[in-house]
Amino acid sequence: MMDALGHPQSVFLAGGTSEIGLAIVRELMSTRIERLVLAGRNHTEMTLTAASFAHNNRKLDVLDLDISHTELHEICLDQAFGGGDIDVAIMAIGVLGNQAEDELDVKKAMKVIRVNSSDSIELTMRIFERMAKQGHGTLVVLSSIAAVRPRRANFIYGAGKAGLDAFTQGLIELGNEVGVKVILVRPGFVRTKMTAGMEDAPFSVYPHEVAAATVDAIRKNKSIIYSPAQVGAVAVALRNLPRPLLRKLPR
Ligand SMILES: NC(=O)c1ccc[n+]([C@@H]2O[C@H](COP(=O)([O-])OP(=O)(O)OC[C@H]3O[C@@H](n4cnc5c(N)ncnc54)[C@H](OP(=O)(O)O)[C@@H]3O)[C@@H](O)[C@H]2O)c1
Repeated sequence: MMDALGHPQSVFLAGGTSEIGLAIVRELMSTRIERLVLAGRNHTEMTLTAASFAHNNRKLDVLDLDISHTELHEICLDQAFGGGDIDVAIMAIGVLGNQAEDELDVKKAMKVIRVNSSDSIELTMRIFERMAKQGHGTLVVLSSIAAVRPRRANFIYGAGKAGLDAFTQGLIELGNEVGVKVILVRPGFVRTKMTAGMEDAPFSVYPHEVAAATVDAIRKNKSIIYSPAQVGAVAVALRNLPRPLLRKLPR
């Protein structure tokens, strides 16, 4: 349960090596977290990262999770929620793919779409169910500006994120009925390993800036945020831009 000051005491990160996810964990660590659970594919890296969060009697758990193996989601969540209630869960799993290659290969394209969409939706729904059962919790879902209006340069990634984004919008409403707070985060371009080697887009930010905005949203009870805030204005423009003009945008 959140402590008397409304601070979370246990945090679960799906995507335990995600730079944005870990930045959010770090931002939350300024408060009294008693248990941190990292779940992902790279056990060694997560174990090292978890050790860097060691503090007093804080419990650190590292769990194996490949989101594509949906039949194993419950095993991971049994361990995460079996160790006690989770106050904040962060869904930070995602793959950018390589649009130029993936659009020529159905299998590659569907892999990107599944990880970002159906596999992510499935895990998100399972986390949500657990939180509904415990009767409380905050579920942060990382979407993207790319979900708002997928474009020529990124429509495979954008299509995947659009599915997760739409689902999460519904979950926000359902969460209001069952006592689970759902927060949808739509970052613009964030400088992480996902975007390494790419040229900065307008309003590029670092992970800690997304993290600060996310933790602010948790504290102020916001449901949908853009990071940075200017990306919200970009989203409005993108939604309304006539297609011929959309085609002229650099990327
Ligand atoms: N960076 C950006 O510009 C940006 C912008 C908007 C939204 N986002 C979204 O923000 C989230 C975090 O991204 P990030 O920038 O922090 O990138 P990141 O550091 O590359 O993190 C992506 C995470 O997804 C995990 N992952 C990928 N495929 C997986 C699978 N099959 N099973 C389990 N885990 C898997 C990665 O694990 P491994 O270490 O095992 O690969 C990693 O932990 C993603 O959902 C991303 O789409 C990012």
